[in-house]
Amino acid sequence: VKGGFDTFMEKEIHDQPKAVADTLLGRHDDDGNLVLDELRVDESVLRTVDKIIVVACGTAAYAGHVAKYAIEHWCRIPVEVELAHEFRYRDPVVDVRTLVVAISQSGETMDTIMAIRHAREQGAKVLAIVNTHGSTIARESDAVLYTHAGPEVAVASTKAFLSQITACYLLGLYLSQLRGYKYVDEVADYLEELGKLPDKIQQLLDAEDEVKSVATAMKDTASVLFLGRHVGYPVALEGALKLKELAYIHAEGFAAGELKHGPIALIEPGQAVFVIVPTPRRPMLHNKVVSNIQEVRARGARTLVIAEEGDETVDEFAEVVFRVPKTPTLMMPLVTVVPLQIFAAALAAAKGLDVDQPRNLAKSVTVE
Ligand code: M6R
Repeated sequence: VKGGFDTFMEKEIHDQPKAVADTLLGRHDDDGNLVLDELRVDESVLRTVDKIIVVACGTAAYAGHVAKYAIEHWCRIPVEVELAHEFRYRDPVVDVRTLVVAISQSGETMDTIMAIRHAREQGAKVLAIVNTHGSTIARESDAVLYTHAGPEVAVASTKAFLSQITACYLLGLYLSQLRGYKYVDEVADYLEELGKLPDKIQQLLDAEDEVKSVATAMKDTASVLFLGRHVGYPVALEGALKLKELAYIHAEGFAAGELKHGPIALIEPGQAVFVIVPTPRRPMLHNKVVSNIQEVRARGARTLVIAEEGDETVDEFAEVVFRVPKTPTLMMPLVTVVPLQIFAAALAAAKGLDVDQPRNLAKSVTVE
């Protein structure tokens, strides 16, 4: 059942190339036009929505946070990302021109169910990005875009996260195509880039031993911080969540730009800090994050850096560099998160913990 792996989580990490490939499968024609027939929402509604609100919890919310950058860029529609359990308690501004996108692996998360019920009562259309066929969220939404990750058994979400980001990108590109935005000519190029991701993820899996040995050597670490900018920010949050839930280590993710607004006070000699570095092909973003590595390194932090292949600017400030293949900025989360998943699982295993079934957690949270 575990495909020769010790844990479901390891198996599911290794399922990720297929999860992404399957989520892309059959969703475009030979000319690179997206065909999402399964979206039962009238095209005229999708053409006129003036706001998108993503509602989700935990890892699914981080997928939504990644998607915000892409959808706003491609579609020029404002995207808010709201934790589902906060949504209906704050009297959100929702009306018939709002598209609410609910993201959920299980489709049974009660907080998210209550959020979509509230949204529909206000007249909004709800589009669900869900992994489980026939689940409550799938049934109660106006439209469903299924992720095809296959069953996810380990409590910690991995392949669902990658397939949720992939599905969100399909949605963003579809809206861009439908609404005739300036990126419409590039939809086929973006789809081609998405199509290259399964091989890139596989490359990272083939190199997992390096990450595992660093994680094993760090098994007595008490606290790890994660820094990222732009789409690297939700990846930092996800890296921290994985480590908390699996290894019971204090872990916090920050927007790298926030460092000097407070978190830098936490840096003392020996503090472990993961830094997710954007591609050097986006120098404005890249240079700022490299400065952040220098800042924490100068204060004695142990710097664990995730950087693109060939980016040597990070070498002098990094204790360890985990390399990821060259990838367009918006798609980098699909590669940069993989070493963080492997790291958390390996560290938890080195501590002798139950990787698949961490204490106090349920796979789907069916109470509010
Ligand atoms: O089934 P869902 O995607 O709705 O679950 C949402 C969260 O409960 C889930 O992602 C949780 O944060 C995971 N344990 C994270 O690994």
